[in-house]
Formats: sequence, C-alpha cells, structure tokens
Amino acid sequence: MRDFEVVTVSGEEETKIQYEYMKKAREIVAKKEAELGRNLTYCVHTFGCQMNARDSEKLVGILEQVGYVEGEDEHSDFVIYNTCTVRENANNKVYGRLGYLSNYKKKNPVMKIALCGCMMQENVVVEKIKKSYRCVDLIFGTHNIYKFAELLCRTLESDSMIIDIWKDTDKIVEDLPIKRKFSFKSGVNIMFGCNNFCSYCIVPYVRGRERSREPKDIIREIEGLVADGVCEIMLLGQNVNSYGKNLENPISFAELLCAVNEIEGLKRIRFMTSHPKDLSDDLIAAIRDCDKVCHHMHLPLQSGSSRVLQVMNRHYDKEHYLKLVDKLRAEIPDIAITTDIIVGFPGETEEDFEETMDVVSRVRYDSAFTFIYSKRTGTPAASMEEQIPEDVVKERFDRLLKLVQEISSDKAMQLEGRIMPVLVEEMNEQDASLVTGRLDNNSVVHFPGTQDLIGTICQVKLKECKGFYYLGEIVES
Ligand code: 5AD
Ligand code: SF4
Repeated sequence: MRDFEVVTVSGEEETKIQYEYMKKAREIVAKKEAELGRNLTYCVHTFGCQMNARDSEKLVGILEQVGYVEGEDEHSDFVIYNTCTVRENANNKVYGRLGYLSNYKKKNPVMKIALCGCMMQENVVVEKIKKSYRCVDLIFGTHNIYKFAELLCRTLESDSMIIDIWKDTDKIVEDLPIKRKFSFKSGVNIMFGCNNFCSYCIVPYVRGRERSREPKDIIREIEGLVADGVCEIMLLGQNVNSYGKNLENPISFAELLCAVNEIEGLKRIRFMTSHPKDLSDDLIAAIRDCDKVCHHMHLPLQSGSSRVLQVMNRHYDKEHYLKLVDKLRAEIPDIAITTDIIVGFPGETEEDFEETMDVVSRVRYDSAFTFIYSKRTGTPAASMEEQIPEDVVKERFDRLLKLVQEISSDKAMQLEGRIMPVLVEEMNEQDASLVTGRLDNNSVVHFPGTQDLIGTICQVKLKECKGFYYLGEIVES
C-alpha cells in the first residue's frame, strides 16, 4: 500500500490528466470493438452505502465516456464490484460472487474484472485476492477512484493483475464525468472520510481523514444537476454535522443547507448521516426554516446504554440523545426520526440492552436499521474481551426487531387517510399500472399512475397503510 501520492499535482491538473486517459482508453476500446465486431459492455455492482452508490456513478460515467455500453448483468466485458466492509457478511458476499465471475471469464477472453471500494483498503483482503482469485485484473481503493480512467487504460493494455491502493489522500478532484442512476434525484458528496473513530467502526481506516468540499463546488454541482432535471438531492458525508470545520474559510453544515435551499428549481433536500454529538441548534433551525429540506433526520443511536456509548467512543450519552430528540420534535413536530442500532457490542449486558429498548420505546422511531455487532479486525472493539455469544445476541436482536417493527408500523398507520406530497421515483416493479414514490419523510407510496409522472411531485391520498409502505390515490399532480 502506498502512503501517499508519488507526484503531487493540483485537483484541476488531475482532471485534465484523467481526460487525456479517457481519450486514450476510448481509442483502445474502439480498436477492440472493431476487432470483435460488437460493442463492449460493462456491469458495475455496488455493495454498501449511498457513498458507494455515488462512487459507482462516477465509475459508470467514465466507462460510458470511453465507449462501453451498459450490459445486462455480470456476463459483461468489464465487471466492477464496488465493495463495502462495514460488516463481515459484506465481505463474504464478494468472495462468493468472485467464484462465479472466474467461470464467466473462462468463456469470455476479453473480460476484465475490477474490484474497488472500502474492502480493498484492507491488506488481508488484497493478499487473499492475490493468492486465491487470480481472475481479478484490477484492484484499487477509495482514495484513488478519481484515477479510474488511468487505471482502466493500464488494465486494458496489460495481462497481469494491477493493484493500486493508497492509505489516504488530501485531494478532491472535481468535474469528472458522472452517469446518474436516476434522472430526477442524485447524491452529492459534501465531504469524504471520517475522524470519529467509533471503536467498532472500520470506516475511518478505509475512507481516511475527514475532508470537506468547497461550498462553491457543491453549489455549482447542484445547479448543474438541477439544470439537468434533478429535483431532489441527498447531501452525503459520514458525519455531515461536522461539515466545513476544516475548510480555509470555515462554514457550518447549517449554513450550507441554507445556501443549497436557495437554489432555484430544486425541490427537495435530504442529507445523511448526522452524528448526535455534533447536532447543533442552528442545524435544527435550518431544517425548520428551509422549505426544501425534508423533515427527516437519520440519527444513529448505536446503543441506548451510556456505558456502552462511552466504550463505543460516541461522545454522547442516553440523556443527551433523548434531549436532542425532544428538541427536534419541539421545533419540527412532524419530523420523521430514523436510526441505526448495534446489538451485541462487546461487554453489552442485559441491562445495557434494556437501555437500548428503553430509548427505542421512548423515541418511537419511524424506522430503524438494526445490526448484529460484527468484529472488524484493526478496530479497538475487535480486541475487547467479553465478545457476546451468538445465541445471546440473536435473542436480543429478535426482541429489538420486534419492538422496532411494531412501533414503525404504528407510526406509519397515523398518516393513513392524509393527503401528502409524493415525489414519483419509478414505475412499480410488480404492477405496471402503479408508480412508486416517496413522502418527505422517506416512506414509500405506490399509486396508479403513468411514466410521465416520474420526477414530479403529486398530492396523493394515503388510502391504506401496509406496515412500512402505503397504497394511495392521486388527488392532483
Ligand atoms: N458491526 C455492526 N454494525 C456496524 N455498523 C458500523 N460498524 C459496525 C460493526 N462493526 C453500523 C452502524 C452504522 C451503520 C452504517 O453500520 O450502526 O451506523
Ligand atoms: Fe463509523 Fe462513527 Fe464514522 Fe459513522 S461516524 S462511519 S459510525 S466512525
């Protein structure tokens, strides 16, 4: 693994360099296509979070720029797995699928296989792939994704495995091509990396130190997206509440939200993820006052036990968290609150777990992602004594899930019969007479409609609540 970039060039120069590589790659692809008498296809498969989904759009942007066309599945000529490593099972899925890929490759001699993303930042993973998965042509990490055009050229010209992983970077490269998955909504990175070092979490080790983008670059990107038909954006960062603190001219996340709210033509603003320790009164006021900001707050709890929270290095306790929820609801009564919870953190006692159940009962989350603690090598929690036996964790997990589901379906029921704005996202997958969209609070609604509604906001009567989604009827578009 390289510690740092060998030659240092500015972000703008890097953009130019990468466009040169795209030109070169386009020539190589055109030549191969002429030889084969057909188009070359790609398939980018994303594991993990919204950040990875956005990164994949950048990879697809470059692949299309150099002439690849979208393939149907992994029987394509260039297959990329953009991986996640936040929990062990994410890693296992990748190894499983690589087995299939090596068989596809035997039947398609021009096929190339690339792996990138968080999992590739771990030495043990790269060593295992080098040893056991020789079918892989290219491995790169999270810090040099902006060099994909260059790596693509090298891969197309070489028969051996290319590995380029960096430990960190301080560079942010703007203005590379991006192909969005949805025409009307888009993620927008506002920062990269994480400085929090929660004791269970591998993210700071694989995504590096926190770096914020300049507000002018973010605004320019969103203006461009809106001009291109986007009406909803999701501002992305591991901890958006600490956005802008380390910029040359510091700015707060609340200030950024207000600036984004001014962008004409934009209809909805979402953001992910907030850390409770940095949730300021200014931010709560901004969500309340900015008309485009959705009334939805994803506020990871992780544990309801103040003792466990301290060992997790979360820098807040149960009381502080509950106070934040009270403040949010006092200022924005209809705000939806969702969360992430980990069950079975090392040393978690029955009493600790009861504290988590207590917070869930008191907050009454609109929805919650619940996770079984997964030991990540290299994190402080991995070497803690008292790892919890599997059967105990499973029993607690089931109890928590039951409570979470009861509450969220109860809460969803409260909106039944109301007329609410829905942003239409896609045709329904099961029933072609229905469209599927989302409420401001992120809940899913299906209702009769046609293709032309996609990307518009309709007033919809929520006729029936089906637990975690609604069936509705359009009132006006
Ligand atoms: N085990 C289980 N869940 C984890 N998360 C992060 N690290 C781990 C881990 N080692 C969860 C947290 C985080 C979400 C994205 O993933 O709840 O908020
Ligand atoms: Fe992990 Fe904490 Fe960073 Fe979230 S904020 S990614 S939980 S270290």
